[in-house]
Amino acid sequence: MSSKLLITGGCGFIGSNFVRLARRVRPGQALVILDKLTYAGNLENLDGLLDDPEVSLVRGDIADRRCVAAVLDRGVDRVVNFAAESHVDRSIEDASAFIQTNVVGTQVLLEECRRAAVKRFLQVSTDEVYGSLAPPASARSDDPLTPSSPYSASKAAADLFALADHKTYGTDVVVTRATNNYGPYQFPEKMLPLMITQALEDRPLPVYGDGLQIRDWIHVEDHCEGLLLALERGRPGRIYHLGAGEEHTNLDMVHRLLAQLKKPPTLIKHVTDRPGHDRRYSLDTGSTRDELGWAPTHTLERGLAQTIEWYLSHRGWWDKIKSGEYRSYYERLYGTGGRYAATTSEVTRGSQVP
Ligand code: NAD
Ligand code: TYD
Repeated sequence: MSSKLLITGGCGFIGSNFVRLARRVRPGQALVILDKLTYAGNLENLDGLLDDPEVSLVRGDIADRRCVAAVLDRGVDRVVNFAAESHVDRSIEDASAFIQTNVVGTQVLLEECRRAAVKRFLQVSTDEVYGSLAPPASARSDDPLTPSSPYSASKAAADLFALADHKTYGTDVVVTRATNNYGPYQFPEKMLPLMITQALEDRPLPVYGDGLQIRDWIHVEDHCEGLLLALERGRPGRIYHLGAGEEHTNLDMVHRLLAQLKKPPTLIKHVTDRPGHDRRYSLDTGSTRDELGWAPTHTLERGLAQTIEWYLSHRGWWDKIKSGEYRSYYERLYGTGGRYAATTSEVTRGSQVP
């Protein structure tokens, strides 16, 4: 049977961007997408790609062993695992789906890959597993994992299962950890698309606490290029760091968006801080860049401008999302009496130090 790459979570933000990139730069590679189509999975993210005879889609759960086994038996020889519950605020509300998909699902995938003698398994992970770091430190891949949120705890557990699989059974597992992604098709619960779409609707931009938390922003296409290289050139058992070195406070990012959109800063509303909110993430990407020959190519300014352009020209995509189940989510978090309802003049400002 011919070579097939399984992409789990391929209907989500990063997974769909990866499918698009893989079709463009590796046209000979057949792809199978396995996706549960949760609230975050969207067939419109694969617009135009599902007619491609080299791309097939199976709706299913990575924690469903029979489904995973049947998909792998289609001749899959490599796997990239994007499938996850991915939003910190939802994990704070209820962690059970995070444990089920991110931990149990990853373990089921690993076991079934071993059974099916899959040649390589790439686990897509996050800088959040290292927890908050005081400047100027940047996490190295041998640093201890000190996750703060239920989301990052579940991702850390999944990474450890993946690495344990390699150590115990000698399987070919590679782990990547990336910083905060931005770009087209990101679900508007995450900060950047939330703020862009709120501003376009002239609605408040809810900045948690003092807004001085720092994230390193990478364009999703740069991340996906790094993932492809890690898949093709990475060494078994290694952890690769994918970050652009664009460290900015949330407040700074929001001001940049408002300036580009020509909207007033008065739209910014400081709200109750997120519980356990990490002040800063940062990755040391030096050895990954050297070993994989990877470097991001998008500048933040151009990447943000392109992203804003995409949300402007895809209003139907996010209008549909924001008028569906999303409305009750938004009310639970940001509505009257919601978790982030109070302004920071009414609450103590977030002051956690790393
Ligand atoms: P997303 O929420 O946009 O997409 C997740 C996808 O996984 C959706 O299509 C969803 O339907 C699918 N899915 C969820 N549970 C599933 C299950 N049990 N079985 C099969 N499919 C399931 O997430 P994203 O932002 O694209 O993130 C993808 C991966 O990258 C995640 O593993 C995340 O932890 C990691 N990551 C994300 C970022 C970021 O900034 N977004 C940064 C670093 C790492
Ligand atoms: P997010 O996009 O949820 O990513 P993560 O928490 O995984 O880094 O949030 C990015 C930053 O923006 C984070 O510090 C939390 C903050 N944030 C807000 O200030 N307001 C919001 O409404 C959201 C969703 C996030």
